[in-house]
This record gives sequence, structure tokens and C-alpha cells, in this order.
Amino acid sequence: MNFKRVVVTGGAGFIGANYVHYALSAHPDWQIVVLDKLTYAGNLENLESVMNRIEFIQGDIANPVDARKALRGADAVLNFAAESHVDRSLLDPGAFVRTNVEGTLVLLEAARQEGVKRFLQVSTDEVYGDLHGTDHHSLETDPFRPRSPYSASKAGAEHLVFAHGISHGLDVVVTRGSNTYGPYQYPEKIIPLFITNALEDKPLPLYGDGSAVRDYMHAYDHASGIDLVLHRGGSGEAYNLGAREQISGVQVADAILAALGKPPSLKQFVTDRPGHDYRYSVDPAKAEALGWVRRYAFSEGLSETIRWYLQNRAWWQRVRAKKEHQSLMQTWYEGR
Ligand code: NAD
Ligand code: DAU
Repeated sequence: MNFKRVVVTGGAGFIGANYVHYALSAHPDWQIVVLDKLTYAGNLENLESVMNRIEFIQGDIANPVDARKALRGADAVLNFAAESHVDRSLLDPGAFVRTNVEGTLVLLEAARQEGVKRFLQVSTDEVYGDLHGTDHHSLETDPFRPRSPYSASKAGAEHLVFAHGISHGLDVVVTRGSNTYGPYQYPEKIIPLFITNALEDKPLPLYGDGSAVRDYMHAYDHASGIDLVLHRGGSGEAYNLGAREQISGVQVADAILAALGKPPSLKQFVTDRPGHDYRYSVDPAKAEALGWVRRYAFSEGLSETIRWYLQNRAWWQRVRAKKEHQSLMQTWYEGR
């Protein structure tokens, strides 16, 4: 499939920005429009080096005027925009329903009205729910069992996406990515939080006994998988994207502390996340059959990511100094 004008919602966030950088290099002829509300997680510094090559619109996917403005004349839209942090969804679930569910619906309607050729929804492996106690790897045909307000809102969004494909003939595709890490990640998710805490000699808070397992995938690989599904994915189909890794919280902490030469005593076991999902794991064979090849193993991807945070101290120090970050640290972690 060929596209010329492509809208990336949430392109100032972590994976969205990594995708914009990837796409500009893979498709130098594309006109890329980024629609982003610039919430606490959106950061124009993530796009600084490419601002002269893209069109940026500050706006809300849940606002029909903003959505139609961005999608006018577009061939494809990739919806990365979301409230993305599980812990925040336990504190303020309404924001997750507004952006992730209502926002996706508004964007789907705008895509239909503007005659967009293809709609790609960036979803998550969390829609399958917890695989704790099994050795199963989730398949695209598995039922949805979301267990947090975040994953419930992403599952709701997916239902609306497929419904628009069936009811209105919109060409839709969905990716279900696993835990992602890499440059430009807001320091609230485990890997950037632990790297930046360690660099400041602060404790690394492990929920419960730190044994919960995730399939950590580098943002470059997530971006290349999304791009492949955009071009080659079957209409109305979902594709798992994962790295075939199974890594616990303790292993993440140990690897970061060792790489930075910091003491293991910085590990701190804290009260568990309510409803904590102890294991996610997807089978990415369907995307691999389309031709998806990943570049990174975890050890190499983590080393490169640690190097990025070492070389970009000003980026994360500015983010961590802001009140949105301070307030999460106080409300969520103090006394845990
Ligand atoms: P992020 O929180 O870093 O960035 C989200 C971006 O969306 C920000 O730029 C923010 O300003 C923007 N945004 C939020 N609400 C908006 C709205 N109403 N209108 C327009 N823009 C809005 O998120 P991320 O980690 O980059 O995740 C991107 C997507 O990938 C999300 O859909 C998420 O569910 C999905 N995903 C994330 C991971 C992960 O590990 N981070 C894994 C799988 C899937
Ligand atoms: O699986 C994909 C999902 O991964 C994405 O859809 C979400 O947007 C993304 O936030 C992420 O969700 P998780 O809840 O898995 O990511 P988080 O980094 O918050 O947590 C990863 C694991 O680390 C989880 O087992 C909880 C644990 N953890 C997390 C934090 C923030 C800790 O032990 N301590 C922490 O401080």
C-alpha cells in the first residue's frame, strides 16, 4: 500500500516520536502531520530535530474539529495518542476513557468523514490480561480479559475500531505491542524511572516481590513492526508485536544497577500495584510472517537506552523537575 500524507496522533510522546523518526527515514517522501494535545507526556523536544520536516498541530483527538482538521487530505492515520500509564489509570480513570475510548471514536468518525484510506490503532498486549501461572503466549484470536482501567480503555477502543471496519467499511488494522523502552520515554514506566532514579542515587521501587514478568521490546522494533503492519497488514486484522523476552522487575533493576555501577541496595521492595498483572507474553508469529524482523535483543537495547539517558540528562532532568512528575512521585510512591 502506498501513502503520501500520514497523520500520527500522539507523535510528541514516546513511541509516537520514535515512529516519526523511523518513518521519516524509511519514507523520506511522506508528508507527516502530528496531532498531539501535549499532555504531561507530550514533549516537543522529542521532535525537535525533525520539526522542519513535519506539520505539527496541537489538538485533542477527542475534539471533532481538531480531528477533522488533522485528517483532511490524509491517506492514513496511526493512532498512538493515549493516556498510557497503568498506575495513573488507578488514580484518574476518567482521563483514560476520554482519550482512549472517546478519542478513538472521534478519530474513527473523522477518518470516515475525510475518506482516509487506512486507520491503524496502536493497541497493547494488556488487552489479553494476566497470563500468570501459565506458559501461554497470547494469540490474536485469544479473548480480551483486561484488568486495569488502562487496559479496559484500550480494549474498548479496539472494539470501536473493529466495529467501524465492519459497520462502515473503514480499512482498519490493529497492533498489540508489548512493553516498550528506548529513547524519549517519560520517566514513569519502569525502565526510564529506574535508570533516572539510579543516576540520582534514589531507590528503585519494585512492586511486591519484583517477580512480575514483561516482554520488553525496543521502541525501534515497535516502530518498524507498526510500519510493516500499516503497509502489509490485512484489513480488519490484529497483529501482536513482542520481542519474545520474559524479564522480571528484579532482572530489570539488577541490569540497570550493574550497568551504572550502582549498589544492589538501591532496590526497594514496596507495596504492590493493586490488581498487578504478573505476566504478559505475546506470540508475534503473525507479524513475523508478514516479514517483521527485530533489531534488538534486550541486553543490547537496554545498554543503548542507558547510554541515551546518560547523554540526554538535560531532557529527563527538565521532565522530572515538572510538577506533573513530582506529583506522581508524591501521590503514588511516598509511604508505599
Ligand atoms: P506516551 O504517554 O509517552 O505518549 C502519549 C502521547 O499522546 C503524548 O504525546 C500525549 O501528549 C498524547 N496525547 C494524550 N492524550 C491525547 C489526546 N486526547 N489528543 C491528542 N494527543 C494526546 O505513550 P506511549 O508510551 O508512547 O504509548 C503510545 C501508544 O502505544 C499508546 O496508545 C499506548 O497505549 C500504546 N502502547 C504503549 C506501550 C508502552 O510500553 N509504552 C506498549 C504497547 C502499546
Ligand atoms: O504491556 C504493554 C504496556 O506496558 C503498555 O500498554 C502500557 O502503556 C505501558 O505503560 C506498560 O504497562 P506496564 O504496567 O506493564 O508498565 P510499567 O512500566 O508501569 O510496569 C512494568 C512492570 O514493572 C510491572 O510489572 C510493574 C513493575 N513496576 C513498575 C513501576 C512503574 C515496578 O515494579 N515498579 C515501578 O515503579
